[in-house]
Amino acid sequence: MDHKGFAFVFALFFLASSSYGDVSYSFPEEMKAGFVIGNIAKDLGLDANRFSARKARIDTEGKGRHCDINMRTGDLTVNDRIDREELCSEKITCQLKYELMLESPLELHRIALQIQDVNDNVPVFPKDIIKLEIRESADKGSRYRVNEAHDADVGQNAVQTYTLQRNEHFIIAVSNNADGGKNVELVLDKELDREKEGEVQLFLTAADGGSPPRSGSVEIHVTVLDANDNAPLFSQSVYRVSLPENSPLDTLVVKVSATDADEGPNGDVTYEFSRISNKARKAFSLDPTTGKIKVIGPIDFEEETQYELRVEAKDGFGLSTASKVIIEISDVNDNAPVILLKSLSNPVSESTPPGTEVGIINVQDRDSEKNRQVRCSIQHDVPFKLVPSMKNYYSLVTTNELDRETVSAYNITITADDEGTPPLSSFKNVQLSVADVNDNPPKFEQQSYSAHVMENNKPGSSLCSVSARDPDWRQNGTVMYSLSSSEVNGFPVSSLLSINGDTGVIHAVRSFDYEQFRSFKVHVVARDNGSPPLSSNITVSIFISDKNDNFPQILYPAPDGNSFMTEMVPKAVQANSLVSKVIAVDADSGQNAWLSYHIVKSTDPGLFAISLHSGEIKTLRDISESDAMKQTLVVSVKDNGQPSHSATCTVYLLISDNLAEVPELKDMSSDESGSKLTTYLIIALVSVTTFFITFIILSLAVKFCHRKKPRILFDGGLAIPSAYLPPNYADVDVTGTLRSAYNYDAYLTTGSRTSDFKFARSYNDGTLPADMTLKKSVSVDHDSLFDSIDSPQVIFCFWSSISW
Ligand SMILES: *[C@@H]1O[C@H](CO)[C@@H](O)[C@H](O)[C@H]1NC(C)=O
Ligand SMILES: *[C@@H]1O[C@H](CO)[C@@H](O)[C@H](O)[C@H]1NC(C)=O
Ligand SMILES: *[C@@H]1O[C@H](CO)[C@@H](O)[C@H](O)[C@H]1NC(C)=O
Repeated sequence: MDHKGFAFVFALFFLASSSYGDVSYSFPEEMKAGFVIGNIAKDLGLDANRFSARKARIDTEGKGRHCDINMRTGDLTVNDRIDREELCSEKITCQLKYELMLESPLELHRIALQIQDVNDNVPVFPKDIIKLEIRESADKGSRYRVNEAHDADVGQNAVQTYTLQRNEHFIIAVSNNADGGKNVELVLDKELDREKEGEVQLFLTAADGGSPPRSGSVEIHVTVLDANDNAPLFSQSVYRVSLPENSPLDTLVVKVSATDADEGPNGDVTYEFSRISNKARKAFSLDPTTGKIKVIGPIDFEEETQYELRVEAKDGFGLSTASKVIIEISDVNDNAPVILLKSLSNPVSESTPPGTEVGIINVQDRDSEKNRQVRCSIQHDVPFKLVPSMKNYYSLVTTNELDRETVSAYNITITADDEGTPPLSSFKNVQLSVADVNDNPPKFEQQSYSAHVMENNKPGSSLCSVSARDPDWRQNGTVMYSLSSSEVNGFPVSSLLSINGDTGVIHAVRSFDYEQFRSFKVHVVARDNGSPPLSSNITVSIFISDKNDNFPQILYPAPDGNSFMTEMVPKAVQANSLVSKVIAVDADSGQNAWLSYHIVKSTDPGLFAISLHSGEIKTLRDISESDAMKQTLVVSVKDNGQPSHSATCTVYLLISDNLAEVPELKDMSSDESGSKLTTYLIIALVSVTTFFITFIILSLAVKFCHRKKPRILFDGGLAIPSAYLPPNYADVDVTGTLRSAYNYDAYLTTGSRTSDFKFARSYNDGTLPADMTLKKSVSVDHDSLFDSIDSPQVIFCFWSSISW
């Protein structure tokens, strides 16, 4: 053989032995339980240490289990009494066939156990007494059949010898007959004489060949007759019939018949079983007169496929002949297939890849031939299939990935059909549950969460709650919430908010101040309890809403009057001229910062009016000579909150064109020195004059910048003194209402250290009308802005950082 050929043969051998290694043991019957038959692990070259893991077991296919494996040592031991005679009756070789089954991978090994006979049975004759009737005229050498003795053992342990008690008339002759039995005959050695001896009594002993031998005896009772006689004769030496299993009671199996040449009662033949097994005795009856063999018990092909009965025909003289009836039982498809679940990995993890073997199924059908051929299938709506592995074994294999969150358990129905006519089928439900794997992160119910809270809230109040779902099982689906640590405007998140880890309810840790920040975002992490845990996070926006907790703050005129500020109003001023302006701000926002101005007290109520929202003070009519030179207005500034807050200030106006009148100002402010005041007034007068000139230029310029960019014209020199802005007006937030950069303020200073003349357009442009959003106010329409400053008397300039 060349190399290739050898390799091929070797491979074949190896393949065959990897799935089917055979091992055979021979040992005597009737061994004690625990008797070690052999070490199967060693003999098959398997690792006994892995027997447990591989679920090694002996598969008996429903027959009695007579042996077992020691899972630690790999020994095959006797489990239960093994009686060769019961298992194999008369078969010479008694072999038990088992299978050693191992899983992962599935492996089957045939085990053959040869049960050796032990001489544990004595030869037994069918009857206690054999009665023979022999005529006296019988010649020397005549032969008379006696039924043989039966020993349940086989081989040497079966009957080997017959010995006849020493006597003067008979000797024994034993010969083998055609059907494997023995003919035992008494041979007449010396003629009988009825007158001398009417009866002869003998003992026949049968001995087996065991050591020590066992024996059994029978008494033979010979009655000497004086008439001539013939023995009956069977029509066939062997009757062979076929009987379907499950034949009903009383079915006629066969009729045996024997004829006797004699006449009268000597020719009457009776039949009886001469040798019959216990099983057959329960199944068949023999009518003594008609010779009909009928069914009297259950006939089961699976129990016994063939019966062998010996029948004896006997005439009135006691002369007999034997015949044999062989009844072959034919199979009927009366056994449905049996589905056995040999192993099942239950539950099966949802991470199991497709193609994984999760179970082993064995189908058996006790019928034979076609009735035994079984096809196995499962329903199609499950991600499993049956893969035939070896001889009646199938693997249950996954075909798809499993997802416990979609289907947590499967009810698999395995159906087996045999090929009999009609076919029989059976099914088995296999419950398979899917074990969880932490494969789903928690999922928030919303894309984002937001909460609105009024400022000055109570610490500890709950703001909102987040909720995340995790479809995994138990701890793999238990969600814990936490705030991911980060800072919000320089504050650690934990100083602002806390979250209940179980419920997801978010609490304020402290009281919020709208004026400090209006909104912030935090990240909430939802984490499951698996290992490793999975998590997801989400943004929660907290919006703090304003409460009217700030009073309007009057920037101009200085509220407490410690600096003396007054406005010069030229006598020539006509009606509807702007003479001054109250500038106030409110740190709140929206309605809470929407300021309105009222004159609550004035020297001459008919002379000045204040614009409700701009705070501009204008003349109501032309100033006349009769008007008092000193005018005082008490202005109240109120916000629109609920409840509203207000502040008041006093505006001093001096109606004069003439510096000569200045000394009278002394009355307006007692603590000012006259000389100083004179200087102020001169400066003021110069300023006013400058104003008018400047104003005309500005008016023209505004007209001009109505079409061109005003920025060019008004850049430089004009800036609101930071002293006039409340400290927290520094750019709080992009969304802030009062960002200095967005105010259209116009003012001018005289350069004096003690008096500022300030002309400002309303701050209202920077505050919010209730229905306006902040953004809108920032991008206030430029045209309307310029329209409002068209008035010739308005002293105005721009300071703006709006990009045009
Ligand atoms: C499984 O399915 C079979 C047939 O469809 C049904 O009879 C049985 O009750 C089911 N078992 C379970 C546990 O659902
Ligand atoms: C959670 O998932 C892990 C694998 O991720 C698994 O081992 C564990 O058994 C699961 N727990 C439960 C309760 O199903
Ligand atoms: C939040 O989730 C994103 C992905 O959705 C991830 O990249 C990020 O690292 C997470 N942040 C935290 C703080 O867990």
